[in-house]
Amino acid sequence: MFSILSLHRKEPDLAVDFGTAILRAGIADGQRFSEEPSRAGTRPALRQGVIADADAAAAVLDRVFARYRKSNRRDLHVLACAPSDATEDEQALLSRALQTAGATRTAVVPEPVAALIGAGVDIGSDGAFMVIDLGEGVVDCALIKERRLFASATWRGGCAALREAVATCLRETHGLQVSDAEAEAVLRRVGVESRPGAYLPIHGTHEDTAVPAAVLNAALREKTDRIAATLLDFVKQLEPEICAEVIANGVEITGGGVLIPGLAEYCARVTHLPLRRAPRPLESVIQGACSLLGPAAKLNLWDSLRSFWPPGAPSL
Ligand SMILES: Nc1ncnc2c1ncn2[C@@H]1O[C@H](COP(=O)(O)OP(=O)(O)OP(=O)(O)O)[C@@H](O)[C@H]1O
Ligand SMILES: [Mg+2]
Repeated sequence: MFSILSLHRKEPDLAVDFGTAILRAGIADGQRFSEEPSRAGTRPALRQGVIADADAAAAVLDRVFARYRKSNRRDLHVLACAPSDATEDEQALLSRALQTAGATRTAVVPEPVAALIGAGVDIGSDGAFMVIDLGEGVVDCALIKERRLFASATWRGGCAALREAVATCLRETHGLQVSDAEAEAVLRRVGVESRPGAYLPIHGTHEDTAVPAAVLNAALREKTDRIAATLLDFVKQLEPEICAEVIANGVEITGGGVLIPGLAEYCARVTHLPLRRAPRPLESVIQGACSLLGPAAKLNLWDSLRSFWPPGAPSL
């Protein structure tokens, strides 16, 4: 029987934050998300925020879509996020992976826009808003003004680069081989700045030892300086009035890097920016993306999602 309900698509569709470490997906109620490692077996689908292995990406997406397809209809509209500096080719690769996995319609929005909304900022209100997303593969720093990406700067590094610095340091200074998981555990314990004189017990693949935390902090400093330089260079090129607005509004900081001890504080100290940690930093992007789904569907604004990118950005 033809029902009035069938005149309306059974919105909402699906929002996806395909991160370098984790793929998060959710529907417009924004309450629950599914999480899946961004890898197919041992093959990482992404590198530095963008798809590096199209087959692995489609396999990860397929796993996630299967869950939502079960309870829904054949059509699957997907809103995904990409780093603010993603090229036309990188965005097209993302859209293709979504389609290969079964999306019938796709839109790609800038990750920092979603991160700000997810952190609770009303980007529709007057003013300039800045966000720093410290992710696994990218540090994405952006200014959103007049409901669109106004300016941005990225460093295609992130938590993965910090972990690599830990592993390299342990190998070069102590001849220790550690797994990626142990490097992550060390990073979470040591943080970017430790108590002077502190030692850290390390479980190597072949032997255990104690390493001065200061040695690890020094190895991490090269990477944290790179993050700080990205943020400082970005802020310095902003107009003074915009800078004043940013300082008045505060700067949101999101992403898993916020949970690495001392990293957010370090960024605040070196940039002198009034940073505000998002309440759920790992989920800010997917929360924001989910909030965008509702209006996109109900008001038929799906096509207008492109307007979050700067004018002249490629239309996919
Ligand atoms: N509880 C925690 N304590 C410390 N660090 C954490 C914690 N949870 C996550 N992280 C760090 O955050 C990283 C993941 O961050 P996030 O989820 O923001 O990345 P992503 O969105 O997958 O990547 P990207 O946005 O850069 O593509 C982890 O790999 C880890 O290094
Ligand atoms: Mg992310």
